[in-house]
Amino acid sequence: MKTSFSGIILVFLIQLGFVLSYKEYLFKTCSSAGFCHRNREFARNVKEASHFVPQYAIDPKSVEVDPELYVIKGQISKHLAQLDKSVQLPFQLTLLDKNNVRFQIFEDRSTAEPKNALVNTARYNETAKWSFKSDEVTIEKVQDEKVIDDENHLSFRFGKDGKYRAELNYSPVKLVIYAGDEVQLVMNDHNFLNYEHFRTENENSKHLSPYETDFDMFSESFKDARHDKIPMGPESVSSDFTFKGFKHVYGIPEHADSFNLKDTTGSDLPYRLFNIDLAEYVPNSRMPMYGSIPFLLASKPGVSVGLFWINSADTFIDIDKKHEEDTSTHWMSENGVLDVVLSIGDRPEDINESYGSLTGYVQLPPLFSLGYHQCRWNYNDEKDVLNINSLFDEHQIPYDVIWLDVEYADSRKYFTWQPDKFPDPEGMLKELDVTGRNLVVIIDPHIKTGFVLGDTIREKGIAMKDSENNSFVGQCWPGESVWLDSMNPGSQEFWDKQHALSDENTFMGRFSTNLYMWNDMSEPSIFDGIETTSPRSNLHYGNWEHRSVHNVFGLTFHEATYKALIKRLQSTERQRPFILTRSFYAGSQRTAAMWTGDNTAKWEYLKASIPMVLTLGVSGMPFAGADVGGFFGDPSKELLTRWYQTGIWYPFFRAHATMDTKRREPWVPGGSYTSILRDTIRLRYALLPMWYTSFFESSQTGVPVLKPTFYDNLNDIESYDIEDQFYLGNSGILVKPVTDEGASSTEIYLPDEQIYYDFTGGRITNRSYQLGEPGFVTKDVSLADIPMLLKGGSIVAAKNRYRRSSRLMANDPYTLTVALDKDGHASGRLYVDDGSSFNYESGEYLDVNFTADKTSIASTSDSNNAFANSLGHIKVEKIQILGRRDVSDIKAECDGETWNLNFKTEGANTIITNPMLPVNKNWTVHLQSDGNKEPAEEEQRPEGVLSSGLLVSVGVILASSAAALKYFSVL
Ligand SMILES: *[C@@H]1O[C@H](CO)[C@@H](O)[C@H](O)[C@H]1NC(C)=O
Ligand SMILES: *[C@@H]1O[C@H](CO)[C@@H](O)[C@H](O)[C@H]1NC(C)=O
Ligand SMILES: *[C@@H]1O[C@H](CO)[C@@H](O)[C@H](O)[C@H]1NC(C)=O
Repeated sequence: MKTSFSGIILVFLIQLGFVLSYKEYLFKTCSSAGFCHRNREFARNVKEASHFVPQYAIDPKSVEVDPELYVIKGQISKHLAQLDKSVQLPFQLTLLDKNNVRFQIFEDRSTAEPKNALVNTARYNETAKWSFKSDEVTIEKVQDEKVIDDENHLSFRFGKDGKYRAELNYSPVKLVIYAGDEVQLVMNDHNFLNYEHFRTENENSKHLSPYETDFDMFSESFKDARHDKIPMGPESVSSDFTFKGFKHVYGIPEHADSFNLKDTTGSDLPYRLFNIDLAEYVPNSRMPMYGSIPFLLASKPGVSVGLFWINSADTFIDIDKKHEEDTSTHWMSENGVLDVVLSIGDRPEDINESYGSLTGYVQLPPLFSLGYHQCRWNYNDEKDVLNINSLFDEHQIPYDVIWLDVEYADSRKYFTWQPDKFPDPEGMLKELDVTGRNLVVIIDPHIKTGFVLGDTIREKGIAMKDSENNSFVGQCWPGESVWLDSMNPGSQEFWDKQHALSDENTFMGRFSTNLYMWNDMSEPSIFDGIETTSPRSNLHYGNWEHRSVHNVFGLTFHEATYKALIKRLQSTERQRPFILTRSFYAGSQRTAAMWTGDNTAKWEYLKASIPMVLTLGVSGMPFAGADVGGFFGDPSKELLTRWYQTGIWYPFFRAHATMDTKRREPWVPGGSYTSILRDTIRLRYALLPMWYTSFFESSQTGVPVLKPTFYDNLNDIESYDIEDQFYLGNSGILVKPVTDEGASSTEIYLPDEQIYYDFTGGRITNRSYQLGEPGFVTKDVSLADIPMLLKGGSIVAAKNRYRRSSRLMANDPYTLTVALDKDGHASGRLYVDDGSSFNYESGEYLDVNFTADKTSIASTSDSNNAFANSLGHIKVEKIQILGRRDVSDIKAECDGETWNLNFKTEGANTIITNPMLPVNKNWTVHLQSDGNKEPAEEEQRPEGVLSSGLLVSVGVILASSAAALKYFSVL
């Protein structure tokens, strides 16, 4: 949503140019976070030791493999030299589905006596329970007969034909993952493994190794956190992981940083995962933000690996790229168990699938939520909302959702409406519903005290507690508030009741099925809290300290909302919920979309949004977007235009702005700006069939919805760094949004030797590009242009008619665009369902394959169900065949009948007009070519196209890439 109290300070300080001092003042860096400081120091001392003595070793006699070859267990001894004794740390090694190797190290603290007797003394081991899609994790059988090889290590094979191997060395402890004979990933390669076992303050000095420092082990020196008693003393877990032969690593959102992660050595700010309300984040920063996904993907030609560090405490990750060929990483968490999953496969998609097999794939969103969302802090009242609603129609701009920020609620008491401004919310919802539109309102986890719901939360004991076990009270939007402890199973019933449809409940009313939820401020944001969040010593259900659960808290909150919304209707009428969350964790993709929080109306924020969204996509959280236009500040008309042209490519496409900005709905800039914005938003709607198909694929396999350039071009190392362009799923649409002020041209990277047809703004032209090897092509761009190419080999299905909302497009016909590849083939996919219910889970959908070659275009579907069979009235109304004008005759064949089709040649392309082929049937279009109809060289150049501007482009292409220009056609 918006700025918090700290954000206001930030805005003020930014104006004074004090950004850094503000950050240093409010947020920890590695040197001021006890556990990070200690682990970095430990790593440095280990590295510099002339004769390193390993402290951790597996006792070979302790190692057991169950007779069925499923679970490997044993003990790691941590040797304490000064006391000449060892602490036993039980470990477990298991193989999970889809090449996931899980290694867990525990500590029995049942006899520990903490400084606060209320605290659960166990190490927190429930992060996976929240993060994984199900409680039941399927453990796979490992592949070797003889897992324990000798006294020094054990190993087992896994994967198809035993392609991969995991090896656990006993002393020093190292877990090594091989593909064939080649080492790919090594845990504890540099001996940075550190597991701070329980000890009391008095005896602490004897427990330290020569490599350790005792900085902030029992007390906190960071600013106002000094009262934190740190009841369990030092309890961090940490290890290094080396990615052998990998120079590119991605993931670990959320940061406003590059796609390919940066080296952090020598900086006081490694990548930090700690969910905070970071108002007006700074691009190019490793500062933590609102959400955390401790998942990292490393790719190189032939092999990709994943690392999922299952821990919900404050975490820092150092990345060291100063090695010749490798990338080494150092993961440090404040507490919890050490629980890590290493996965391996041929390709990045394999790793997305492995990770998603544990945490779940993105929910298939209701179709409306892929449309355009109009938000502002605030649309003031019903009149304002309905006026905006009708202005969209007046300007013929489609949209699906209007949003209400905090001011709709009476004194910011969620689940109420300001009575004078929203006297008839149900009437307003009904009026929106007439044109297929929806409303989203904000509901946060803080509930005002002295308000009946706040009081109920206290009475029921379902609030987050302070360290003395009293309901914790802090400051947030409504003033003094309590926080719902959504980790408490008792809170669900309360939450369900607030979201239920009923006669009595005046908030949801009886018919509000087009009302959806925005869960903001869920880090949780606490205005008077240290680092704007909860004290770490606060207690959650189970007497777990907030310290242990911080990063997963937001997930537990939006999941509670999801469960409540699911229950709104009887199972037969159930609609897929839509929830936007600000805070998120690994697994949030199952139930919520996210946005990148409070950005600013400046070009650098527009640019930063693309790598951020790509990063979220490869980390299993594809339903992501940034506030279009920038939350703070007033964008220039040019910036606003470019932002919409970029924003239609965010999987979550919403415009939003803070209170003191000027109104900026798409008609506000006026004139040609408004007509560009209209075309831009309409393009999003035209391509909704491709968005929905891409989301469906992502929901089945975990592939990102916006596909990074390198995914399909693993042998082209240069493509691994491309972060300003992407493909829309597998559609073949390649987009390079313009993010530079005053740009009159842009360079698009062609990662392969395929033909790329010009598809600027989704319109077909007479141009195409093809390079002899990967390189850049230059394209001129006017303000109206969205640089897009369609990759040869693709068939795109679009719905080109303007309608007021996505729901009203349901019966519209399709236009197919066929782009043959250099060998004369193309294919595409179209997935369709009712867009809102769960019936697709029982097979009620249409899944169509399109294929084409030089002689035919065919549609095939084996969907035989009530839904698919009901779509006979939906036709293909147009087929555009790119780069072909040699067709002399076209016939259609469907249901055993054959008939002639009308077509025309337009420039370089052939257009089949009005074929009226049903979308749900198998059909074939036969193309007969008459070689004699090839136009003469002169005819190929309509006048004026081969302008001097274009000749300059050709020159730039040659100059800007070493690639040989094999083919560049201008017809
Ligand atoms: C967490 O640890 C406790 C105590 O050892 C154990 O009883 C429980 O089953 C563990 N829970 C999970 C989810 O592993
Ligand atoms: C559609 O294509 C996919 C992928 O090539 C294939 O697995 C599937 O069988 C095809 N379906 C039909 C009906 O041809
Ligand atoms: C369409 O073709 C697919 C694949 O060849 C086949 O499975 C399906 O039954 C066909 N549908 C009809 C209606 O003939």
